[in-house]
Amino acid sequence: MLHNEILDLLSHHRSIRHFRNQQLTREQVDTLIQAAQHASTSTFSQQYSIISLTQPDAKKELAEITGHHWLQNSGHYFVVVADQYRNLQIAQANDVDPYILRTADKFFAGVFDATIATENIMVAAESMGLGGTIMGSILNDTSRLIKLLKLPELTFPVLGIALGYPASQPELKPRLPMSEIHFDDTYQLSSNFKADLSRYDQLVSNYYQERGQNNRIETFSHHIISELGRNREQRADLIKNIREQGFILK
Ligand SMILES: Cc1cc2nc3c(=O)[nH]c(=O)nc-3n(C[C@H](O)[C@H](O)[C@H](O)COP(=O)(O)O)c2cc1C
Repeated sequence: MLHNEILDLLSHHRSIRHFRNQQLTREQVDTLIQAAQHASTSTFSQQYSIISLTQPDAKKELAEITGHHWLQNSGHYFVVVADQYRNLQIAQANDVDPYILRTADKFFAGVFDATIATENIMVAAESMGLGGTIMGSILNDTSRLIKLLKLPELTFPVLGIALGYPASQPELKPRLPMSEIHFDDTYQLSSNFKADLSRYDQLVSNYYQERGQNNRIETFSHHIISELGRNREQRADLIKNIREQGFILK
């Protein structure tokens, strides 16, 4: 395998959920936003926005939404939003029909942009000695989050990112064998799938048993099965909420 500073950084990623009591500086925050802004952006439309949560009350509310109370101890918190509202202003100022901005295609473009910007922030933060966790659980109560952030039409929250100085370095979480996720030319479930999965289950089980915090007995297969049983009722309104923000999903 090849090595360089960036490749090593990428392959040493782990989510950080315990932080030292130190806030990020304005310069650090601006540097992260700049890293996000230089990510690829679909059709060069820059259809995302980033909101920093600076107020303790807002962080507390987000902690309630996500169930992650530890986010209140982070050194900085971003919410990344799919955003066609800004481009709606340009369409309206030029008397152009903005219908396209409401389509599923443009909703997804905003989600792609927001997601790629989020990963740029994470990698940039890690390169600065920081760590953090990307959070999809901000979608546990989108109506409440949309109100909290005063999100206008044609915007939708995509991911949160809690960042800070790591208080501990968790063990690296093992990933599936490469042959199980990378195929040539067409999709093929590998012929070694069962044997690979069994070996990987053992690897994940060792990881969970040996890790310093929150250790437990769990294989990857168990994890996937317990994910299927999770109560997702909170997110049952997701499509309705997306439509209420003015996107036409049909
Ligand atoms: C889209 C997305 C959403 C995530 N949402 C959450 C979340 O809500 N809460 C959380 O604790 N971790 C969340 N994570 C982090 C994953 O749990 C984590 O990346 C995964 O377990 C692998 O662990 P690692 O990042 O330490 O390698 C999310 C990651 C992604 C990419």
